[in-house]
Amino acid sequence: MSHHCQTSTSTIAAQHEHKGGFCPVVGDTHAYCPHHKGDSRSPCPALNALANHGYLPRDGKNISVFGLIRALVEGYGLSTTLALLLSIGAVFILGQFRKISLADLARHNLIEHDASLFHRDARKGQEYAPRCPDCSLLKAVVHQGGYYKPGRITLEDVANIRAKREVHGPLDFTHAEIARGEMAIAIGVLGGPNADKEGLDLEVLKTWVKYERLPDGWKPDHTQGLYHTYKMAKVVRDRMNAIKSGKLKNVLDEADATEAAMGMSAAHAPQVSPTSQR
Ligand code: HEM
Repeated sequence: MSHHCQTSTSTIAAQHEHKGGFCPVVGDTHAYCPHHKGDSRSPCPALNALANHGYLPRDGKNISVFGLIRALVEGYGLSTTLALLLSIGAVFILGQFRKISLADLARHNLIEHDASLFHRDARKGQEYAPRCPDCSLLKAVVHQGGYYKPGRITLEDVANIRAKREVHGPLDFTHAEIARGEMAIAIGVLGGPNADKEGLDLEVLKTWVKYERLPDGWKPDHTQGLYHTYKMAKVVRDRMNAIKSGKLKNVLDEADATEAAMGMSAAHAPQVSPTSQR
């Protein structure tokens, strides 16, 4: 099937409305259609992609906790336990026990936090953080990832990148756990059953974050369970702690020093100051 929506990563799709959460172009399928005028979106690439593929209402509105759980299980193959924990955890942190809109998730310092990998921090005093990914931050992650496995971002890469991001503003315990968990699940789900060792293809990550789009022909190829995800997040945490305590050198600091010496430090500008605004 070919129509505007599926080819719209580089061109602007013909405008249409996703009234009642339904797409009049792709209909009742999981084909990709990006957000259109009036749609609600979050700072979470995973949930935005679920809406862009119709696992969640296409307009990103009126999402019940059950709808969220079902979408996470169907769209990403999360175990029911993990999906339940994330979804119930989310409504409790948000304090919203009725239906939610994706934009509610941008409320600063509830689930949303500073030092994100792909999003700018909320401006001082702002109630909501930016929902759109920032190209220069994404570029920096792609540049810094792939240190251990060419073309793939591993959990160790994430630890190095996060440690660097948090140098100027460490996160509190809960937000630090959330930040590590987000990437552990993303690598686990999109990277395949051996993603804890093999990591995730950086091209898949790029398309997922930038266009909030799943790979063509996407189907989850394994169940991503709670314990496995916990173990993956722990790899990130242990490495970050080792870097922070000085037991381990952050390879990115060495790479930065080399690039700075060669006059290439500008490429890392967004890394050095993650809280600066555009
Ligand atoms: C109920 C389920 C979920 C909720 C409520 C949720 C919510 C959020 C929120 C509010 C953010 C913004 C945090 C920030 O400030 O960076 C976020 C970011 C993120 N989420 Fe989710 N999320 C959920 C499920 C998932 C899943 C299943 C994945 C992976 C497949 C995922 C991957 C990510 C990633 C990678 C980010 C980081 C974005 C960045 O650093 O800029 N999330 N999520």
